[in-house]
Amino acid sequence: MSTTDSGLDAAADHTDDADFADARIRHEALAAEILEHRHRYYDDDAPTISDSQFDDLMHELVDLEHRYPELKNADSPTEQVGTFSEAFTPVVHLEKMLSLQDVFSLDEVQTWADRITAEVPDEPYLCEVKIDGLAVDLVYEGGTLTRAATRGDGTTGEDVTANVATIDAVPQRLTAADGFDVPELLEVRGEVYFPAADFAHLNEARVASGMAPFANPRNAAAGSLRQKDAAKTAERPLSFIAHGLGALTGFAPDSQSHSYAALAAWGLPTSPYWKVVATLKEVFDYIAEYGSKRHELVHEIDGVVVKIDDIAVQRRLGATSRTPRWAVAFKFPPEEVNTKLLDIKVSIGRTGRATPYAVLDPVRVAGSEVEFATLHNPDQVKAKGVKIGDTVVVRKAGDVIPEIVAPVEAVRDGSETDFVMPERCPECDSVLAPAAEGDVDLRCPNARSCPGQLRERLAYLSGRSCFDVDRMGYIACAALVQPLEPSEPVLTDEGGVFDLRMEQLLPIKVVVRDPDTGLPKIDEATKEQKVVAYFANKEGEPKKTAVQMLENLETAKSQPLWRVVNALSIRHVGPVAAQALAEHFRDLDRIATADEEEMAAVDGVGPTIAAAIKDWFAVDWHREIVERWRAAGVRMQDEAPDPSEALPQTLEGLTVVITGGIAGYTREGAAAAVKARGGKPSSSVSKKTGAVVAGDKPGSKYEKAVSLGVPIVPGEDFDRFLTEGPAEPEPEEMPDGDESGSPSDGSEPE
Ligand code: IVH
Repeated sequence: MSTTDSGLDAAADHTDDADFADARIRHEALAAEILEHRHRYYDDDAPTISDSQFDDLMHELVDLEHRYPELKNADSPTEQVGTFSEAFTPVVHLEKMLSLQDVFSLDEVQTWADRITAEVPDEPYLCEVKIDGLAVDLVYEGGTLTRAATRGDGTTGEDVTANVATIDAVPQRLTAADGFDVPELLEVRGEVYFPAADFAHLNEARVASGMAPFANPRNAAAGSLRQKDAAKTAERPLSFIAHGLGALTGFAPDSQSHSYAALAAWGLPTSPYWKVVATLKEVFDYIAEYGSKRHELVHEIDGVVVKIDDIAVQRRLGATSRTPRWAVAFKFPPEEVNTKLLDIKVSIGRTGRATPYAVLDPVRVAGSEVEFATLHNPDQVKAKGVKIGDTVVVRKAGDVIPEIVAPVEAVRDGSETDFVMPERCPECDSVLAPAAEGDVDLRCPNARSCPGQLRERLAYLSGRSCFDVDRMGYIACAALVQPLEPSEPVLTDEGGVFDLRMEQLLPIKVVVRDPDTGLPKIDEATKEQKVVAYFANKEGEPKKTAVQMLENLETAKSQPLWRVVNALSIRHVGPVAAQALAEHFRDLDRIATADEEEMAAVDGVGPTIAAAIKDWFAVDWHREIVERWRAAGVRMQDEAPDPSEALPQTLEGLTVVITGGIAGYTREGAAAAVKARGGKPSSSVSKKTGAVVAGDKPGSKYEKAVSLGVPIVPGEDFDRFLTEGPAEPEPEEMPDGDESGSPSDGSEPE
């Protein structure tokens, strides 16, 4: 197939090209990795890489898709924003929740303002701080809070009404005040935040009870709000500040500041820090002022938001499909601090990867204490040029995960030592080796029983994207595989996890560690390490947590198939591939025995993942895990879908490209709607494309569709297209003498 002969098609045909084959493999692995990190960020509120590392992965993906547009598909991370959790009911916001255009320099603020001034000179600006929290949407009907939702993708969020109802700062009922009658309908947007003063305490308590600390207050807010059990949210000191309006009936503010006065009058908390100013010079002063006192406020901030105050002017300036033109977010640069690199240790991951990480003299960066930073692999350690004992520059790119920027070579005194990658696994003493020739990563080959690998796999399988076993946290997993001697590990691979019995748990003891230093605590009386039973109380009876963990393991046996697949820790298989496999095969045995080609052809799977699955099931002890789980009652099939619930497949097999914004749909929402009708959303136009839906401001894909003669559906007809399917193609040629076809004047046939 050649698509280049028209000269208009930028996407050359690469299907027989060896580089393309490599690119496809890399694309799949990258996409799976990115989706996994998104899931950790959005669903688990527990990112494991920094924003800048995430951005690097995204850039590589974008680059690949730029070179090979045919790699792009509707499931590509470049086509999706965020993810949704299954724990909360989706709700559609009354009005779309827009985001903000980020800028990183005063020059860019100037450019934004110049564009506005060219159209509307001398408009006052409203400056406010950008709260580092979680956006929520509150709906008040007749003055009563009827719904609260997270932002989600801007169109659809998650229903967190019960959780938000526990936040004291959010009134259940609005109060009327002088000049401000309670409106019939009010959709208010704002930020749920974790107060800065409580953040350190929360993390101390988490570490003390064996949980990982939150990376920053934003994650703490998200983790606290998005609890399945609202009673847990109630235990957290969350607060709320309103910063905008959505749908509104019965009140018409004339400026943003007027709306803040109204919100405050109705009893909704507004920021104490906003200020209306007349000139851009004052905007710059505001940015400088809050840049220097960013850690002195009641909540953390990651920038300053500048808005045009006048609402009529806001309307006139309008918005793109994602962000308003009347506002901009100035993001503070990542903060960098110096600290000592005390040591470089090596951790062993779920798939055996040995990752060096820095142990730092604890230091406060961007509002939280940093003690560790990943160094990824030995090559990275070399590339960064750091030595143990160095003073290093640490930053939190995107204010999430800390990273070492560089050593401060000028202050070296000669005592610094080079890091030597250990030859043996620090957890089980096996000799580390690359999985394949040329691999930069070293791995522990003792996959089955290395306590490090097994602990990580267990923690993963009990996590939110797998069996979701509450009470089976990280320390519990560690205790099951690495109890204090002389106890033997209760689990030597994950096969026995569903057969755990209370009498196995009760003897397990763990060392108590100091939450600040991570070092074992010493018993004052005995001067020995302090040791406690993890699952039993002082009387030797089961703790509530142990009882609940076993109960939760029992209910977890009927989780849907994709969670079981994801829980197997197969390389490259994350939640997305697991869902694709479960949806296609519906039965674990069918996945285990599937033909590799059939598997690779499943949308969202591909050859790398298919090969990894084949390899996984070829290993005896892997198959034994599946058999033990099955014998314990883990469900290994999904029910067939109820045909009565399926939408009519109006677009069956049709490749559909969407370009430009479509009212009422996000990009991924529109793609999902096409999929639900049996269509195949795609992002590149070729002669084989069945239809191009051209929304607001269509891109070059529209021109290409015109040039290739691909049928075009106007964005406003998208709903009709979904329900009725593509229009019948017009006959190419009129049979001689037939007058009943299209009239020759180009008008619509009757
Ligand atoms: S205004 C249409 N004001 O930042 C304007 N947003 O990066 C929408 N945020 O999703 C938002 N503080 O959740 C606004 N003072 C503030 C804010 C703020 C934090 C969040 C908001 C938004 C995100 C965009």
